[in-house]
Amino acid sequence: MVARDLEDLCERAAEMVARAITDQVLARGRATIVLSGGTTPRRVYERLAIGTFQQAIPWDQVYLFWGDERCIPPDDPDSNYKMAHDTLISKVSIPKENIYRMPTERSDHQEAALEYEKTLRNFFGLAGEGWPRFDLALLGIGTDGHTASLFPGSPILSEKKQWVAAAYVEKLKVYRLTLTPSVFNHSAQVIFLAAGKEKAPVIKESFSADHRSSRFPFQEIRPHEGKLIFFLDQAACSLSPPFYEVSG
Ligand code: 6PG
Repeated sequence: MVARDLEDLCERAAEMVARAITDQVLARGRATIVLSGGTTPRRVYERLAIGTFQQAIPWDQVYLFWGDERCIPPDDPDSNYKMAHDTLISKVSIPKENIYRMPTERSDHQEAALEYEKTLRNFFGLAGEGWPRFDLALLGIGTDGHTASLFPGSPILSEKKQWVAAAYVEKLKVYRLTLTPSVFNHSAQVIFLAAGKEKAPVIKESFSADHRSSRFPFQEIRPHEGKLIFFLDQAACSLSPPFYEVSG
């Protein structure tokens, strides 16, 4: 879906998130949502935290998780958890017990990844084989085509066992924690959010050829039995041919 601008994109994406939450809560009594960092997701969280969305969403039945995180304490200004806390969590009536942030203050990143996987396994009641099924994952797209902390060339892109990985990001010379592609691909719905003209080249390159071949990490995310939806704005599509919605 191509929105006029960032504001229009946020309004429409917030509507879809609110609908997904309400539907899931009605059907199953809870909604599990994966959040990410980034400027476009941030604007959507801000929108969800005010007006009718803030009032109508059954926040006490919403469970929040993170798709990726920097290895820094949760009160660091660059923390994705802090961003979601400041823009959304602190403004809605979501119980503290429903917030499942990544344990990024741990100095051993591999241990932190294992610990988060354990947390997810407990939540979903899955000890051995199998994958969690999140109701919705919200993801951004970087100018290099990364999503969550799945960067171009990362070995984590082909990870088939772990749910959570400590990914060394060569480009930034840091470790990040990230859910693996298989986790996103077992979600019921994935929504990509990208706005602004700086995203136009990666959007053009990824969609102008055969969209079944992956050139960028975000193209590895295609839920097996779920929906894949792109919320873009006109600026992000300014170099692309007309757009379409892809559903899985
Ligand atoms: C992060 C992210 C990352 C982000 C993209 C897009 O922690 O930064 O989870 O994957 O979503 O980089 O970010 P922008 O919307 O700011 O370009």
